[in-house]
Amino acid sequence: MTQTAADAPTIRSTLPGASCVRTLESVNPAELSDVVARVELAGPEAIVEAARRGNAAQQEWARVPPPVRGRVIAAIGRLVEANAESLAQLVTREVGKPLAEARGEVQEIVDTCDFFLGEGRRLYGQTVPSEMPDKQLFTFRVPVGTAVVITAGNFPVAVPSWYLVPALLCGNAVVWKPAEYAAATADALARVFVAGGLPEGLLTVVHADGPSTSDGLARALEAGLVGKVGFTGSTAVGRTIGELCGRHLQSPCLELGGKNPMVVAADADLDLAVEGALFGGFGTAGQRCTSLGTVIVEAGVHAEFLGRFDVAVRAARVGDPRRDVVLGPLLAPHFAERYETYLDWIGNAHRVLGSTGVGRISGDNPRQGFVGDAEAGLYYHPVVVAGVRPDDDLFRVETFGPIVGVTTYRTLDEAIALANLPGYGLSSSIYTTDPATAFRFRQGVSAGMVSVNNSTSGAEAHLPFGGNGKSGNGSRQSGVWVLEQFTRWQSMNWDYSGRLQKAQMDVEVPAADGAFRL
Ligand code: UN1
Repeated sequence: MTQTAADAPTIRSTLPGASCVRTLESVNPAELSDVVARVELAGPEAIVEAARRGNAAQQEWARVPPPVRGRVIAAIGRLVEANAESLAQLVTREVGKPLAEARGEVQEIVDTCDFFLGEGRRLYGQTVPSEMPDKQLFTFRVPVGTAVVITAGNFPVAVPSWYLVPALLCGNAVVWKPAEYAAATADALARVFVAGGLPEGLLTVVHADGPSTSDGLARALEAGLVGKVGFTGSTAVGRTIGELCGRHLQSPCLELGGKNPMVVAADADLDLAVEGALFGGFGTAGQRCTSLGTVIVEAGVHAEFLGRFDVAVRAARVGDPRRDVVLGPLLAPHFAERYETYLDWIGNAHRVLGSTGVGRISGDNPRQGFVGDAEAGLYYHPVVVAGVRPDDDLFRVETFGPIVGVTTYRTLDEAIALANLPGYGLSSSIYTTDPATAFRFRQGVSAGMVSVNNSTSGAEAHLPFGGNGKSGNGSRQSGVWVLEQFTRWQSMNWDYSGRLQKAQMDVEVPAADGAFRL
């Protein structure tokens, strides 16, 4: 279905009375003539007002028993399941993700809801022994208040759900600023949340551009309306959000870029490694934060690996994301523009493999076996760049798109050093049949996530997700670990002795005979 701008629905912020400072079109990257939605962007004050609205609604929500909040999460999960196909189709249409991956992405929301509906019945605190008699200590998890969540569009619903679901379950309100180019998908997800029974004011979606968002966030922090900031996006923007939050004594949850390494040892199953490299490097057209950056191959099998990888990438189906393809288009025009600057980093010392060309696929620059009409969308040749060196930008900087570098190593220590060199630290992978190699790699690699005989991307929804170095500030999402982001510990002590028992000073310990020896 190709929709003109005149026919496209208008997507607005869900803040009542939100301003419209500018309108933009969200287009289908697989078919640029298809306008998915017209998006009304609000100004900075919308973030402040949404946070104010969140604070007002949150007080009552925090008093709702967590198991009851869990039932709301359960209902949201069931509604996502019931609407899974239309949501997946919308993801594919708005950001060009192959349908199979879009369905997986929607499943990730269901999994997240399934996990957290149970957390409503746990959300455990502890009873802790006191050092004095007739006194008891306790810990409680307390919601942080209102979370401002800013997300990217490469995972337009799954990654937002990693924030929204636990934040709400823990008794918080959320202001969500989704990617402008994935606004229709965000709007659909928000409507599902509301249909799940979420009381008014707890989830407010604000569509805004980058400058308005940072201005609005600064003002909302200044006004003391924000209890947590969650951000998924580039390292550069993550830094500025970290600085801003730091000024307000807030530690944000930052999920940033990656230059994710895959080490292939000489004893690896090479076909398995090739399959992992293909999915890690070119799934989602290389636009996951967990996408494979560089394959680091043991010298003795480098030529063999490269040959097989080249064959696999050449054979990969590229094209219309509604069909059975490995990779579709880039997410949106500004991603394509930026990706072209990364292609300029390919130099004479490099050897380019994997396709029948480099750059945008067109009639003049065709990709053999392309599925559909290449010129209709933002399609790029998947490329493998052999011979990348540690000094190359291609080795050091995240290149969000369908490009994978390959280099070699001789010792495991060298492989680990190369894996860590770019200074990110999100995901990593090693292919080996030797457990000692796998565990030594795990110990040495700086990444927050390590795969053994599996691709860098495709983490399960209930393990800690997050990175170190340029990939984040150590915060973790998913599973029980994300509870640390959306609650703060409150400790309580209760003395029922009827006396003032002073900690440390009034503690009676039986005397030991310190001189005793056997
Ligand atoms: C991201 O790209 O922001 O592990 C998240 C994965 C997915 C999530 C990626 N489950 O690849």
